[in-house]
Amino acid sequence: MNRVTSIPDLRAWVHAARREGHRIALVPTMGALHEGHLSLVTAARKLAPRVIMSLFVNPLQFGPGEDFERYPRDVERDAKLAEAAGVDLLYLPTVAAMYPPGAEMRVVPGRTAEHWEGEVRPGHFTGVLTVVAKFFNQVQPDVAVFGQKDIQQLTLIRRMVADLDFPIEVVSVPTVRETDGLALSSRNAYLDPVARKHALVLSQGLVSARKAWEGGEKRAESLQNVIIAAFNAVPEATLQYLAIVDPLTLQSVETAEVGTIIAVAARVGSTRLIDNIILG
Ligand code: PAJ
Repeated sequence: MNRVTSIPDLRAWVHAARREGHRIALVPTMGALHEGHLSLVTAARKLAPRVIMSLFVNPLQFGPGEDFERYPRDVERDAKLAEAAGVDLLYLPTVAAMYPPGAEMRVVPGRTAEHWEGEVRPGHFTGVLTVVAKFFNQVQPDVAVFGQKDIQQLTLIRRMVADLDFPIEVVSVPTVRETDGLALSSRNAYLDPVARKHALVLSQGLVSARKAWEGGEKRAESLQNVIIAAFNAVPEATLQYLAIVDPLTLQSVETAEVGTIIAVAARVGSTRLIDNIILG
């Protein structure tokens, strides 16, 4: 596996791969890699013979008081995992190279970022979309792979690609979970064993709602109540939002159908976690 940190070195590597006629897949990450990230690499390898992973903790997408400083960082561990998973090039840009003095342009989302994560984390998606647009321009991949775990992010990236005419295919990968259902997340590292147990309420609430839906309950309000009841039983976890939404617009629906997304965000102690499922 090769490693580059500068944009010229990245471009030179991409140019050489292109000269050899290879398609290129990009997997953007912030590191602290886990099986969820590695499943994106596995998917990417099936889509293109050259896979680039970017590893960059993007300051622009963290709000004041969020966990930018303490976000887990271990480049050597990540490099080993990325190489074993089949990454060809690890791209590790510096903050100074990504945001040099004077840089001021941003990709600002619209309505799709109005609620849920966008509301709880003002400016977050501007930071995400700006950095992803930069990666798209720097790498110019044929295909980019993202996780369903961050469903609003995925929807906004698809929106950006459509609205700004990026010639890039966006592919999504289902959420990878622990055997007990907890969605893998770099932020799970913040959970102590007790909090780890409380965190299960996110996935278990979603599974209960899905069971109710499969049993014939289609009213969004009733499905919400199923999840609220699950949270009421675990006072250590505080529900931040609960969304039952259309997969394209992320606007709330009254009736849950095949494809409807149920998304939750909660605080467990000082750790903020998100999870979602797609019905059907
Ligand atoms: P990060 O949180 O590191 O996630 C990188 C990618 O891994 C995202 O596409 C995310 O959806 C996916 N992912 C995370 N957990 C997953 C899981 N359990 N199963 C499957 N995929 C999972 O998301 C970001 O970084 C950043 O916002 C980024 C897009 C890199 C821009 O900075």
